Amino acid sequence: MPQNDNLTTLPVVGRARKRIDGPLKVSGTARYAADFDFPTLLYAVPVCATIANGRVASIDTSAAAAMPGVRKIYTHENIGTLYQVSKTSKAMVDEKRPPLSDDTIRYYGQYVALAVADTYEHAVAAARAVKVHYADIKAPSVSTELSAAQKPETQTERGDPDGAYEKAPIKLDHTYSTPTETHNPIELHASVAVWDGSHFTLYETTQAIMNYRAVMAQMLGVPTDNVRVITEYLGTGFGGKLWPWSQALLAAAAARDLHQPVKLVVSRQMMFHNVGHRPHTQQRVRFAAEKDGRLVSIHHDYIDQRALLSDYQEDCGEATGMLYSSPNVRVTGAYAERNVGPGTSMRGPGKVPGLFALESAMDELAIALQMDPVALRLKNEPAKDEMKNIPFSSRHLPECLTRGAEVFGWSRRNPAVGSMREGDTILGWGVAACTWMAERFSAEANVTLFNNGTVQVASGTQDIGTGTYTVIAQMTAGLAGVDVDAVKVVIGDSNLPPGPWSGGSMATGSMVPVLIQAVEQAGQQLIAMAAEEDGDFKGVKSDQLAFTQGKVHRKDQSPDSGRHFRDILTAAHAAQVEGHGKAKGTFGQKQKEYSTHSFGAHFVEVAWQPAIARLRINRTVTVMDAGRIINPLTGANQIEGAIVMGIGMALFEETRYDPRNGKAVNSNLADYLMTSHADMPGQMDVIFLDYPDIHFNAMGARGIGEIGLTGIAAAIANAVYHATGVRVRDLPIHVEDLLTSKLV
Ligand code: MOS
Repeated sequence: MPQNDNLTTLPVVGRARKRIDGPLKVSGTARYAADFDFPTLLYAVPVCATIANGRVASIDTSAAAAMPGVRKIYTHENIGTLYQVSKTSKAMVDEKRPPLSDDTIRYYGQYVALAVADTYEHAVAAARAVKVHYADIKAPSVSTELSAAQKPETQTERGDPDGAYEKAPIKLDHTYSTPTETHNPIELHASVAVWDGSHFTLYETTQAIMNYRAVMAQMLGVPTDNVRVITEYLGTGFGGKLWPWSQALLAAAAARDLHQPVKLVVSRQMMFHNVGHRPHTQQRVRFAAEKDGRLVSIHHDYIDQRALLSDYQEDCGEATGMLYSSPNVRVTGAYAERNVGPGTSMRGPGKVPGLFALESAMDELAIALQMDPVALRLKNEPAKDEMKNIPFSSRHLPECLTRGAEVFGWSRRNPAVGSMREGDTILGWGVAACTWMAERFSAEANVTLFNNGTVQVASGTQDIGTGTYTVIAQMTAGLAGVDVDAVKVVIGDSNLPPGPWSGGSMATGSMVPVLIQAVEQAGQQLIAMAAEEDGDFKGVKSDQLAFTQGKVHRKDQSPDSGRHFRDILTAAHAAQVEGHGKAKGTFGQKQKEYSTHSFGAHFVEVAWQPAIARLRINRTVTVMDAGRIINPLTGANQIEGAIVMGIGMALFEETRYDPRNGKAVNSNLADYLMTSHADMPGQMDVIFLDYPDIHFNAMGARGIGEIGLTGIAAAIANAVYHATGVRVRDLPIHVEDLLTSKLV
């Protein structure tokens, strides 16, 4: 650790900075996976199953194979060997079955063949000409009424929730549901695979290049070192691009067979079946409370929809044991198998649907108690994590609630339903809490300080559109005492030192200890150089010198008195010094000393016009307790984006499967409704409390990618109830639901 230096207050860190990659993106120079081109590039187009439950009897490829420009048609008979990831491996993949590895069809759209041709158009035409004959066709199971196929698993339990529930004076028992949601990043999933006879170079759309390399190596059956994964830029992923999907294996297998680069871009329609979704959930919440509002018991029993051959679980009850104080709690999870493609993490997995149920139920409890919903939450603020029985590292949920209430003007709220009118419009005000875990992945980075005063930082992580390039540059600049413009960030290549996944809101926090250590190690070399130099530090022992923000100085003097690395390197006739940082992660480890989470609160105003059945989100106020914010501009952007996405979750998004064939009927951006500009709130206020969490890392920075989507759908549903008197427990809220409102 650098001497006498508070790393929570470094220069540059904590300042609003525009994205350093912004100009590359708006000028079209940033290269995305599908942009990579080669003179001998071939194009692959999959053939997708048109049934969801049955098997392939035969595939007639003869007509397709004879079409112009076609190089080869692949089926399960000639794709070549693809392996499963070993069960003992930590490599993550949600579609575990290699593509084309058997003749069973488990979901609509499953890849059954692949056409490879010299142009995209030829490949499309050939894919259409492949004739697939199916047998044993059965009706798919896609019902949205979920009942557990097995005994629910208890996930956390304390006290006697059943006994306490029976005895309590105030009780609530409601079931909430959230639909299947499809990620729909604007950049389509894409794979460009190059094989040179021994090594694969894979240009991929991924949020985790290092994991991608591990999975692809195992499934292709080559050593990890023979796979290189490149993701220089990503047009977002929302979790859908965390792990590899089958198209990457198809492209790589075809490239291996044909010895030519192969590009496969997944179409928008395929993206509704083949690259994951947030599973449909059904959640029963039971609360018991004393008349003063104290929660005496919480039950949260959820069932999620699960694909065949999948073990992805939408962990809805993850926060239930720690968000509020209650001596008696039980959370159970179960699943129902369906003929759908594998589910996967979608921004805020588990907690986002979970907090829709929990925070809706808190609002219903407040109404039953005739208590203010902010006051109810304050009343149940825990003094520690009661699930793990350890203190929180830094928890300021009450301040999020009180500050948000103040900025929003909550004290002017009339709790009576439909009571706040503006002409023909009824206003509804709702609130909900937010939370997301704070963990770090293991990571490594190299930082090189050059004699011209510039710095390079290199790590095998990636920027998924969230601002990772920029915050890594800021943190490195702050530590190395240079301007952000002097830092070159090299990421997006698995040949670099292994960096963190962009998942779980962990990339930034994971980089903190690594960057500190790398800069410190470079600094040690500069100290040694400076001590040998015939200059300022002549005769000073190196253990009396420190390196702080780019300068070597005497420990008993201020860093300002020191000598810049540029001058030390120049005097030593050295081009550079390089430091390496490596830190072990916390993710997946048992938390021993502190429970580390972020918190927040959303306040929402909706406007309901009963005469024309029009619902709008007028304004939102969000207060976040997410530790030290490295860049308030990209940070606020994350929260705003999550609110926009949350409006979609509350009002629009749902993937619907046709019960006849299991097809997602709205598999396009016209029918799968998402928030558009016209649906945006007139005003979104985002406030960061900015308390550094120094138990988490030395800069005190937790993550902010996902927390904004937790709670927002509940805050909207609660506001809608306040405006209309209609409690919608099944998302999304359709305007039709509100036509039952008695208010005019
Ligand atoms: Mo996030 S769902 O871990 O990309």
